Amino acid sequence: MKKVLLIGADGMLGGELRERLEKNYDVTGTTLETLDITDREAVLAKAEEVKPYFIINCAAYTNVDGCEINTDLAMAVNGTAVGNIAEAAKAQDATFIHISTDYVFPGNLPVDQIYTEDMEPAPVSAYGRTKLVGEENAAKAEKYYILRTAWLYGLGGKNFVKTMLRLSKDRDELTVVDDQHGSPTSTTTLCKIIEGIMEKEPEYGVYHSTNEGFTTWCRFTRKIFELANISTNVKAITSKEYKEMYPQSSDRPSNSQLSKEKLKNVGIIPEAWEVALEEYLKEELK
Ligand SMILES: NC(=O)c1ccc[n+]([C@@H]2O[C@H](COP(=O)([O-])OP(=O)(O)OC[C@H]3O[C@@H](n4cnc5c(N)ncnc54)[C@H](OP(=O)(O)O)[C@@H]3O)[C@@H](O)[C@H]2O)c1
Repeated sequence: MKKVLLIGADGMLGGELRERLEKNYDVTGTTLETLDITDREAVLAKAEEVKPYFIINCAAYTNVDGCEINTDLAMAVNGTAVGNIAEAAKAQDATFIHISTDYVFPGNLPVDQIYTEDMEPAPVSAYGRTKLVGEENAAKAEKYYILRTAWLYGLGGKNFVKTMLRLSKDRDELTVVDDQHGSPTSTTTLCKIIEGIMEKEPEYGVYHSTNEGFTTWCRFTRKIFELANISTNVKAITSKEYKEMYPQSSDRPSNSQLSKEKLKNVGIIPEAWEVALEEYLKEELK
């Protein structure tokens, strides 16, 4: 069995990934309590102890609005610390799999256009800026995969779907942004993509890794309510209106649609976001 060092093994993605990988790999999982990735010496020592074939980083500072306030911590975790992991991977000749985000893009493309891996990132948020530094540091591992995902939801963590389900319980109407375009992605789909990358070991580099198809937050919410049989009305608003309601909120790309051609060319085909959402809701609503 190949050895895997899975960092961030109790997060929303990391928790599900750990459960799945344990069936086929010898997994050592770490959490913030057992390995703080901002501690360079500790990261190098852990990799030396485990001697993994793969190091997977699911740890991050993921509060997008919080990154605008706690910029130093966000940069330390999402940016600088990724360099510690890349260094550890290189020292052990391990392959580094790092999770990044659609928010590295400015999101100002017309909505009939989508981002490919070779397009220039230029984040509009502190979160995106810190994750971009993380990408640059991850690439120092040389044997690396950077998987950019988006709008992630899963059973084991706080996420947009759970928030909408919760809010629908005591509101007749919710207002949701309808001019930001992207791909809701289930942790299950992302786990399958990661497993595909681990099995196939395609050319190193960046791979856009989301569910297939695109929508807006508003249409995503309407689909959640349709599948969950919820009658709460969903009113569309613009990002500008949202920002007026929540001035502290981070700017977000209006179009962060990611092309999956590169992933498909290596034989990894993510399912449509609607299919993944339906599967997720069957479990979530049990
Ligand atoms: N969620 C999304 O919508 C989304 C979208 C695009 C990309 N992504 C990326 O997908 C990946 C997985 O996200 P997720 O939603 O599963 O995140 P998550 O649930 O927030 O999990 C991240 C984990 O990292 C841990 N962590 C924070 N600081 C750490 C440190 N210094 N050392 C070690 N561990 C630390 C957190 O611990 P505590 O909880 O104790 O702080 C948490 O367990 C991340 O790279 C994220 O940037 C997520």
